[in-house]
Amino acid sequence: MKIRPRRNRASEVIRSFTRETLFSLDHLIYPLFVMDGKGIKDEITSLPGNYRWSTDTVIGEVSACMELGIRSFILFPKVDNALKDPEASYGYDESNFYLEAARQIKKRCPSCVLVSDVALDPYSSHGHDGLVIDGIIDNDKTLPLLSKMAVLQAQAGFDIIGPSDMMDGRVGMIRNALDREGWVHTGIMSYTAKYASAYYGPFRDALDSAPVEEESVPTDKRTYQMDPANKFEAFTEADLDVMEGADFLMVKPAIHYLDVIHLLKENYQMPIAAYHVSGECAMLSAACQNGWLDFQQAMPEALLSIKRAGADVIITYFAKDYAQLVSQ
Ligand code: PBG
Repeated sequence: MKIRPRRNRASEVIRSFTRETLFSLDHLIYPLFVMDGKGIKDEITSLPGNYRWSTDTVIGEVSACMELGIRSFILFPKVDNALKDPEASYGYDESNFYLEAARQIKKRCPSCVLVSDVALDPYSSHGHDGLVIDGIIDNDKTLPLLSKMAVLQAQAGFDIIGPSDMMDGRVGMIRNALDREGWVHTGIMSYTAKYASAYYGPFRDALDSAPVEEESVPTDKRTYQMDPANKFEAFTEADLDVMEGADFLMVKPAIHYLDVIHLLKENYQMPIAAYHVSGECAMLSAACQNGWLDFQQAMPEALLSIKRAGADVIITYFAKDYAQLVSQ
């Protein structure tokens, strides 16, 4: 045998010569759930190691993560049911705690990067990302509300706006609204290929944001999120996002959609983000808790695989675990 691939695997140093995928904390964004109140650190049962934080405690968590080398965060609001209504009006109420949390974090940790979430579901009584009119998610009537949310988020200090709603035309509408109000440097990380996935369960537990079981309201998000069977349709979504002014194209979920990440990376001159979603993280945590997998090995392998598929940046609930692992 003249050719023996094992020669280049002989030691860690030799393996490091030929390692194709390099991965570091710079490529991670850490999701944090915030809620109104004081002194709260409430663990999410289906997402061990992740918490709902109040605006005061989240600041300490951001500082602690910054010390570990995590510099980017994506914030999601857990809204009290009493504040939810069909129009999701608390989402574009200037005095809401979500915007206040961003202002406070930016004051305390000005160098961190904050990504927002734009969608009606955390604030809507029906749990949908858009307005529900006669049992249908109304695309065009939702767009001005999303734009309003985005402008308020930019004002509050978010660096990057994250439309996760999957309404058609929202990136363009948001871009125009931001530009009109002078937020020309605020970026947009578009949820380009966001699938109607079963793997968002723990996230919906965390926010209590699942679509309600009522006759007048669809019980799933399949009329706006993508069909898990489709890959090439992601081109249409990506073309639109590029034309409408997105700065990042996101694929979500990640582990089950590595082919889509790869497809977009190979075909677009755009930074690709991947969302390693709650259910994907929870299943790995559960297997590790049972002793069926080794967390310290399986977790970094999952992140590395998302990077290898073509993601430039990864949103993952394991960001802090990874930071702790590499700082040991
Ligand atoms: C809201 C939103 C969801 C997630 C991120 N933004 C839930 C959904 O679309 O129902 C899920 C993230 C996760 O599961 O980690 N539009």
